Order: sequence, then C-alpha cells, then structure tokens
Amino acid sequence: MRHGVDSGLFQQTAHSPSYFELSRTGAGELVDFCIPCNPYFPTPEMFEELSKNLESVLKFYPSDSSKIADQLSKVLGLNPATLAMSNGSTELITWMDHLWIHESVAIPIPTFGRWTDQPMESNKRVDMFLLQESNNFELDIDEYIKFIRTRGSRVAVICNPNNPDGGYLPRREIIRFMDELSDLDLIVIDESFIDFVEVERNPSVAAEASIRPNVVVLKSLGKNFGLHGIRFGYLVANPGLAGKMRKTLPKWNLNSLAETVVFMLADHEAEYAESLRLLSRDRYRMGMELSRIPDLTVYSSQANFLFVKLGGGMDGRELRDHLLARHQVFIRECGNKLGMTSKFARLVVRPEQDVERLVEGIRDFTQARWTSHAVHASHSSEPSLLMHSA
Ligand SMILES: Cc1ncc(COP(=O)(O)O)c(C=O)c1O
Repeated sequence: MRHGVDSGLFQQTAHSPSYFELSRTGAGELVDFCIPCNPYFPTPEMFEELSKNLESVLKFYPSDSSKIADQLSKVLGLNPATLAMSNGSTELITWMDHLWIHESVAIPIPTFGRWTDQPMESNKRVDMFLLQESNNFELDIDEYIKFIRTRGSRVAVICNPNNPDGGYLPRREIIRFMDELSDLDLIVIDESFIDFVEVERNPSVAAEASIRPNVVVLKSLGKNFGLHGIRFGYLVANPGLAGKMRKTLPKWNLNSLAETVVFMLADHEAEYAESLRLLSRDRYRMGMELSRIPDLTVYSSQANFLFVKLGGGMDGRELRDHLLARHQVFIRECGNKLGMTSKFARLVVRPEQDVERLVEGIRDFTQARWTSHAVHASHSSEPSLLMHSA
C-alpha cells in the first residue's frame, strides 16, 4: 500500500521529522524504528493509571522542580544536591553551552546533532573528532585525548553509548579520560542511553562526576523510560555546578506529566528492570535477523538501536522512502549527520513482529532494486551492467 508522505519533510532539519508531523501527512499507523524509545516501559497498566489521572495532571500546575528532583534522587539513590532536572536533556545541552562552554568544545562525530549544532549556533569552535569506519566507529580514548591537546579544546564531550552507532566504552576508560583531562573547563559524559548497557553491571560514572570539579553526567529519561513526549532529563555534577544549573533553569520548567511519572517510578522498579531485560533480548535477536540480509553490515551496539551499513549500492534515503511508502516503517537514515553518509542507517530495537515487518521491507526493497537493474540491463547493449547490479 502506498501513502502520501511528503519526502520534503526530511530535508528541513538535521533531525528526523516528528511522529506527529509524519502522521499528519497521512502516513497512517507507523512502526517507528527511528526514535530510540523503550517499547516495554511504561507498561500498559502504567499507561492506564496515567490516563485515569489525565484530567488533574493537565489542569494543575506541577510542583517546583526541586520537589520533583528530590523524588528522582530518592529513586536513583543520588544526593539531591548533585542533581538538576530539565525539560529534556537538550535543555541542559543548551544551558551548558551558555554557561560553561566559552570558546571551544571537542566531540567525536557522528553523534547526536545538538552536541555540534548548539555550540556552533552560539559561535563556539567545535573540534570534531571523526570516528573511523575502518575502526568500526569505535572511539580510541588515547587518540581522542591527543586530538583534544593538539586542538587546545577547553571542553570535551563523550556520548556513552554513542548515537548513532551504539558504541560503548567501559567505565574504567571513561574514568581514565576524566583523570587525564582534569585541567579542562568541563568534561561532559552524555549517558542518555546507558541504562541499555548490558556488558557491565554499573556502567555509569555519575557518582564520580559528583566528586570531581569539572565533570557533568547527562541523562535523558525519555529514552530509557520510553516517554520522549514528556521531555525530561537531568544532570549529575558536584553540588556547586549542579546548584548553578538549578538556579539558571526557568521556574516550573518541568510539567505535571513528568512529575506524575517520576512519582510512579518507585512502585514500578521491577517492571523497568524487566523492560531492560526484554530490550537486550530483542537487540540480540534483531541483530541476528538483520545480519542475515545480504549487503547489510550490523555494528555491535549497547544502546537501544542498531547501526547498519547498506552495501551493494543501496542508498539510505531510497530505502527510508520505500519503507515508509510501502511498509509504513519509519527508519533513520544518517545522511544528514556530520561525519556520515546515506550508506548508514540507525534502526531502533523493537519487538520481534515489528522486526519481521522491517526485514520484509528491506528484502522487498533489495528485490525491487535488483529487478529494476535487471530490466535496465536487459535493455542495454552493455552486458557488464547486469554483472554489476547483481
Ligand atoms: C546522546 C543524546 N543526548 C541527548 C539527547 C536528547 O534527549 P532529550 O530527548 O532528553 O532532549 C539525545 C536524543 O536523541 C541523544 O541521542
């Protein structure tokens, strides 16, 4: 079935169009492999509880953000003085740029676009450290430190795991990085996807950040709690830095839905842990399914998405448009990310039945390409073309 999705929507920003924008163009019920969200949390029972309270949630002002942050710190076992809560972690990236990035910032690319765009928009120098395909996009900490020293960057960022490749650095490597760069103005470890890590038991360096003078750990709750629309995130840093951020953030920057969810969390820890277990099972299964497709290279990931390279002359934009128009499947092709090309795509980990639909769509796309190349070649006087397309 074809749908009237306007592909111009994809040319407008460095990010993907929202689910709502796409739905309004008549895309229908999409299976979303684009926005990295936990599909198993909140549970249907939690959504029911939320909808029962919706009227009062929407009618009344939320509490002061310090009350909400106090509750979150209890749930997370963190000292409330080390925490600042925000309307999505993007809000904190913006404020960190205004407050603490004065001249330059180093960041490995490809990565989450706001980490390069925000400081560029405010005229800072962005020192981009290109992750190499020949090294499977893995971050070599020693090379990155050398790069930071050579460029003289005053702030350094690492996303761990990184978006879009899902690459993960062990905790001890991040601590070594922080030790080596203790003279920088600031080090930010963006741990927005860290709850999905399974190769290490306690991967976060949040406790380390709270006792160091120049380290901030950033977290986005939208991803792990499966609630991007609510917009909540937080940072952990020493009480001086965290307090400065709390004073800077606008009053009532958190909404009542975020407050309600934060207060629900303590009663649903077991469901959350189970959601993470199911997600890593799905990540493994989905990786296996995708790696069976010829011409697809699947990179190892510790996040809730898989990064793939499209071989055999496949183009990510064509694949995305095909999947959207014919299969109502929405993927993130990475051509508009710095340090990337349209040969790469990010596919969110989803349950088995959704993956079947994605795999069927990709196979259908490769088959359609193959057929059209074969027809083209049979009309051509150049027999070598057929060899090429196969
Ligand atoms: C590494 C990273 N950090 C931060 C964010 C922003 O998250 P939020 O939705 O909390 O603003 C994203 C969003 O994709 C991300 O990939």
